[in-house]
This record gives sequence, C-alpha cells and structure tokens, in this order.
Amino acid sequence: MSVAHLLITGGAGFIGSHTCLVLLEAGHSLVVLDNFANSSPESLRRVAELVGANAAARLQVVEGDIRCSTDLDRAFAAGSIEAVVHFAGLKAVGESVAEPLRYWDVNVAGSRCLLAAMVAHHCRTLVFSSSATLYGYPEQVPIQETAPIQPINPYGHTKAAVERMLQDVAASEAGWRIASLRYFNPVGAHPSGHIGEDPSGIPNNLFPFITQVAVGRRERLQVFGGDWPTPDGSGVRDYIHVMDLAEGHLAALQVLLNGGDQLLTLNLGSGRGHSVLEVIAAFQEASGRAIPHDVVARRAGDAAETVADPSLAAELLGWRTTRGLAEMCRDGWAWQQANPNGYAS
Ligand code: NAD
Ligand code: UFG
Repeated sequence: MSVAHLLITGGAGFIGSHTCLVLLEAGHSLVVLDNFANSSPESLRRVAELVGANAAARLQVVEGDIRCSTDLDRAFAAGSIEAVVHFAGLKAVGESVAEPLRYWDVNVAGSRCLLAAMVAHHCRTLVFSSSATLYGYPEQVPIQETAPIQPINPYGHTKAAVERMLQDVAASEAGWRIASLRYFNPVGAHPSGHIGEDPSGIPNNLFPFITQVAVGRRERLQVFGGDWPTPDGSGVRDYIHVMDLAEGHLAALQVLLNGGDQLLTLNLGSGRGHSVLEVIAAFQEASGRAIPHDVVARRAGDAAETVADPSLAAELLGWRTTRGLAEMCRDGWAWQQANPNGYAS
C-alpha cells in the first residue's frame, strides 16, 4: 500500500476525525484544514492521542476556511499534497431551508475555491463527501447509483451541484481522479469512546438524540411517524458505522492513487435497513438504559425507507461494512457515556 500526503478539509468534524485516525494508522501524512465552525480542535487532539506519538507526528492542523484562497494556500504549503479528502461543509437540512445562501456559499462556492486551489497546486485527486440525500424520495429500494438525482431541500441541492461541478471538472482535462461518496446514515463512534459525534444544540438526527436521552440530557424521543409503509410503521434507514465509513475513504483513496483518470460515484452504506423502533430496541439492549419515546406525526420531508445498494463500492473498492447495529449502539454509547456533553465534557 502506498502512503501519501493528504489534505483533509473538515477533518475535525464527526466523519473527518474518524477518517483522520484511520488514515494516520495506515501511514498517510495529513494536513487538516478546518475553521471549527461545527467542531473543536479537541477532536484532533484526541485522534493524536489514540494513534500515538509516531503517527501523530504526521498530523498538521491549519485553522482556516475553504472559501479563502490564502487559507488554502497555507494548507497546500504545509505539505506536498497528493490528494484531498473534502469533508468541510454544512449539513443541517432544516438550517439549509432557512439559510440557503449560506449553504450555497460554504458547500458550493467553498468546493469551487478548493478545486481552484487544487489546480494551482497541481493536485488532481479528490474524495468528496456526497450524500444519499441526493436521492430524495427514492423510487426503488435498495437504491443504486443510477437512481434519479432529485434532492428535496437546499442542502441536497448543494451536494448535487458539487457532484455536477466535479463531473464538469473531470471532463475538462486529463489527470483528474475523483470519487464522490454518497453516505447513507453514519452513526456510532470509535470503539475507545474517545472520539464521536458532538452535535451543537438539539440533535436533528435520530442516533445522537437517542444517546442524549440515554445519558439524561433529553427526556424523551419523538418517533416521527408510526404509519409508514414499513414492517413496524416507523421509518427505515441504512445506518453505517462511522469506522466502516472511514475505512471506505481509505479504500477509495487507494484506488484513486493507484489508478489512472477516473470519476467514481459510489454509495457507502451497509445494504441493510433498520427501523426507528429497531434502533431504539438495539440501543436499549447495548446501553441497559430505557429510551422513553412517543410515536408522533411524520416529519416533513422524510422518506419511508432509504437503503443503499452498496455492491458497486464492493466491486470497485473491495470494501464493505463489517460492523452491525449492535456495534454502532455499543460504540455510540461508550462515547456518549464517557463524554456526556461531548468534547466540552
Ligand atoms: P461535521 O459538521 O461534523 O464536519 C464538517 C467539518 O467541516 C467541521 O469540522 C466544520 O468545522 C468544518 N467546516 C465547515 N465549514 C467550513 C469551512 N467553510 N471551512 C473549513 N472547514 C469548515 O459533519 P460530518 O457529519 O462530519 O460531515 C462531513 C461531510 O459529510 C459533510 O460534507 C456532510 O455534508 C457530509 N455528509 C454527512 C452525513 C451525516 O449524516 N453526518 C451524511 C452524508 C454526507
Ligand atoms: N427520527 C425520529 N426521531 C428523531 C429523529 C429522527 O423518529 O428525533 C427518524 C426519522 O424520521 C427517520 C430516521 O429517524 O425515519 C432517521 O432520521 P435522521 O434525521 O437521523 O436521518 P435522515 O435519514 O433523515 O437524514 C440523514 C441526514 C441527511 C443525510 C441522510 C443520508 O440528516 O443530511 O441522513 O445520509 F442526507
């Protein structure tokens, strides 16, 4: 396996921090560029602690914004960057409805700035954080990458726009090696419980809401809809352990770095759906804590069921998930229990 100098935008965030850990353990050298808009430098301090001093010496952190060419130049100057893993962005669906221009600015204009800096610094290998949100209300489940792109909120529109921009860039000249990875529902934490997901404010997503109820930060969970056309009436999603997702990035990078020009668009999911009620039951089992909950009305904009067909990633990356729902709950609980208030604990 070859090792490389990598730029990781948004590397202090939830998925970025776990991926940094996996990339450092694989021998890569990293420059993280993050403005800490939705994260804390503490996550990277803990990554450094987990990997040990030798590997931590291969991690540099640059505080800066992907929309600022000077910050990007500083990050590229910190190492001879061969590839970029681009996590930086805003991801809250509701917020994107209220503040679409901010989402287009950070997610789309920020990605454009990053691509311009890559060209200026002769780097043409990129892994991009895309999302299953692109599929909107899927017409068929499991969802293949060829399914129609029909996002239903501004956040999804920005992800679709960046994928489109990457296609145009890849077609513009030879030399580009790009992977757009469409994540399904990333949850869980590193098994040590030292790093994990640390949402600010009231969590929008199911999993961090459950862990905060379990630890006593919130009283009850609302289950959005008990009348979906699913086996138990609650919504079904494809949850993916964040360590499996991190390993998917390592696999994608290896394929890009070892291959010629390519543009890969891949689902990263497990291929298995779990309902909200199943997740609650699995979490109660893993934590030994009750999760009081009430079934309430459906949430606007939700689909009944989204599950990946992950076979293309298996074929092209030689990667598939290995961790199930019980491990997602066990590791997510270890993190929340040890850090009841996240990194501020
Ligand atoms: P996160 O918010 O934890 O991480 C994003 C990181 O980007 C944060 O550290 C934040 O400080 C940083 N950032 C934001 N704006 C920046 C800017 N202008 N310049 C530099 N850094 C900036 O989110 P995450 O869950 O780790 O998600 C990472 C990526 O994956 C995002 O692009 C997100 O849209 C995408 N994604 C996430 C999910 C999910 O459910 N978590 C699902 C699909 C796709
Ligand atoms: N849910 C509840 N109660 C809650 C929160 C969620 O019942 O308090 C339900 C939802 O209705 C849904 C399931 O739990 O059935 C999962 O909801 P999440 O909000 O955790 O995740 P989504 O599938 O709605 O969306 C997430 C991200 C999107 C991303 C998508 C696919 O929020 O940005 O996964 O990656 F695009």
